[in-house]
Amino acid sequence: MNATSTKNATLTVDDKTYEFPVLSGTVGPDVVDIGKLYAQAGLFTYDPAFTSTASCQSRITYIDGDAGILEYRGYPIEQLAEKGDFLETCYLLLYGELPTLSQKRDFDQRVIHHTMVHEQMTRFFQSFRRDAHPMAVMVAAVGALAAFYHDSTDINDPQQRVVASMRMIAKIPTLAAMAYKYNIGQPFMYPKNSLSFAENFLYMCFAVPCEDYKINPVLAGALDKIFILHADHEQNASTSTVRIAGSSGANPFACIAAGIACLWGPAHGGANEAALAMLSEIGTVDKIPDFINRVKDKNSDVRLMGFGHRVYKNYDPRAKIMQKMCHAVLNETGHGDDPMLKVAIELEKIALNDQYFIDRKLYPNVDFYSGITLKAMGFPTSMFTVLFAVARTVGWISQWSEMIEDPQQKIGRPRQLYTGATRRDYVDIGDRK
Ligand code: CMC
Repeated sequence: MNATSTKNATLTVDDKTYEFPVLSGTVGPDVVDIGKLYAQAGLFTYDPAFTSTASCQSRITYIDGDAGILEYRGYPIEQLAEKGDFLETCYLLLYGELPTLSQKRDFDQRVIHHTMVHEQMTRFFQSFRRDAHPMAVMVAAVGALAAFYHDSTDINDPQQRVVASMRMIAKIPTLAAMAYKYNIGQPFMYPKNSLSFAENFLYMCFAVPCEDYKINPVLAGALDKIFILHADHEQNASTSTVRIAGSSGANPFACIAAGIACLWGPAHGGANEAALAMLSEIGTVDKIPDFINRVKDKNSDVRLMGFGHRVYKNYDPRAKIMQKMCHAVLNETGHGDDPMLKVAIELEKIALNDQYFIDRKLYPNVDFYSGITLKAMGFPTSMFTVLFAVARTVGWISQWSEMIEDPQQKIGRPRQLYTGATRRDYVDIGDRK
């Protein structure tokens, strides 16, 4: 369903009045369509971090940040995480409906069919330093997919778009595991197609050719849920990056590589790594009050990592699921009394009762517990954002596809409020002061 307009908003500037349609979606705040503002009034709007701007119409993911609601295609994240699996979530995000049994079997097979990467890619990996950050390797390797699979880069061919999408959902986990293996100097493990998506990822990361690898079902189940929780999050920074990159007609591999680059930042996907570093820095429960004071100090730039969100002004619904899973994984791996978990629980308790955090509506986000969980599973901190990228790939692709299939789509091109020098004449170098 396209957005409908039943009322107008009026803007008055210098005694002149302009009318703009107010559009309603199926749920969520209405938006004022100011697409013709410049043509009518010669004005731009100013909203630097897009805090009040809807950049597109989308049918994929809905968030109510005040109520702490996250839904994929209308289905609550809690139900999907409890009852579904990650590939089912991928199908849902891509096609809009939950698959029937036969659709699910077919989809799983199609993903599995694409898990191997071109053998030449192993040589591409060899050109990196061993100590390269796996996210740096991922940005390069995913971008390089366009060079290895140029038969699926024509965005005007719907079939090529589907093939590129399946390739990325299937191959990005393989590349992620290769980035890890390369970093620790172990041989790459080819994907094993008899395993589920999450099992295969654990296998490619932690198996070695000289030993049998036994899948731990608790860890595989938890990883599958982590992938579901991170699969999409509407128009966040990396998704908007993917859409903007794609709006120029760039090939899908290049667009997803751009999304991965954006995700790397500590305010976005890098936050779980930063949250774990913070818990480790605090070290023990008795150091928490001092840390909280530093966070609240206006003169310090210390933030409580894993807390706060641009959209959620309530408990992030993913954080609740993550907290429960964290306990299960730590118990399973024998880290139930990990001091970091104790610090996290106590820190959360104190912060939720502290006026500073209450006033600013700062609650734990998904990253508060994901770092401890992933660490207990055996992943090094440098891989945390990589796992986020593996999960988010399907969200980026779904959003990119939605945009490409929109007949009204055109290149994204924000405007600016120029505050630099006004016109002046060139001064020869010898005459400059
Ligand atoms: N710790 C302490 N104070 C905070 C925090 C925090 N984590 N987050 C926001 N604030 C304060 C901030 O100092 C400001 O206070 P004041 O009004 O006194 O100046 C107020 O809250 C509003 O902050 P803001 O920076 O304007 O809020 P934002 O919506 O731009 O920032 C955020 C959102 C996620 C970047 C921010 O909350 C943050 O830096 N959090 C820590 C990093 C983090 O956990 N990021 C993961 C986000 S979830 C995963 C993802 O989507 O990628």
